[in-house]
Amino acid sequence: MNRKLFAIITLAILIILPATLAAADGAALYKAKCAMCHGADGSGMTPMGKSMKLRDLRSPEVQKQSDAELTKVTADGKGKMPAYKGKLTDAEISAVVAHMRTLK
Ligand code: HEC
Repeated sequence: MNRKLFAIITLAILIILPATLAAADGAALYKAKCAMCHGADGSGMTPMGKSMKLRDLRSPEVQKQSDAELTKVTADGKGKMPAYKGKLTDAEISAVVAHMRTLK
């Protein structure tokens, strides 16, 4: 391959890749980190979710909580709910919270 073209492509990848990684994808994060307990649809109807008696994330009891409250549970954890502070960035946590709003 032409060296100059190769250099341009490499540079383009170096610039574009971090940008795509930085843009947190709430739906993908939810699927990867949360769905095993909360279910892809948020219902909590997974073997883990049932054994932990999870509330449906789409239910009014959960949805009436503010973004700040949902963010806090996600970041700090609660009971058997793992804390994601340090595992997810603040931007990723807000993307996941925004995704939970789309489940209802
Ligand atoms: C290991 C299973 C597990 C995983 C993985 C998990 N959770 Fe949870 N989650 C729980 C449990 C258990 C509770 C209930 C905690 C309680 O009320 O005692 C909970 C509660 C919650 C609540 C509060 C809902 C309510 O009932 O008010 C939110 C919001 C939440 N989780 C978000 C998330 C997000 C976002 C993720 C992924 C980043 C996630 N959870 C991953 C187990 C899990």
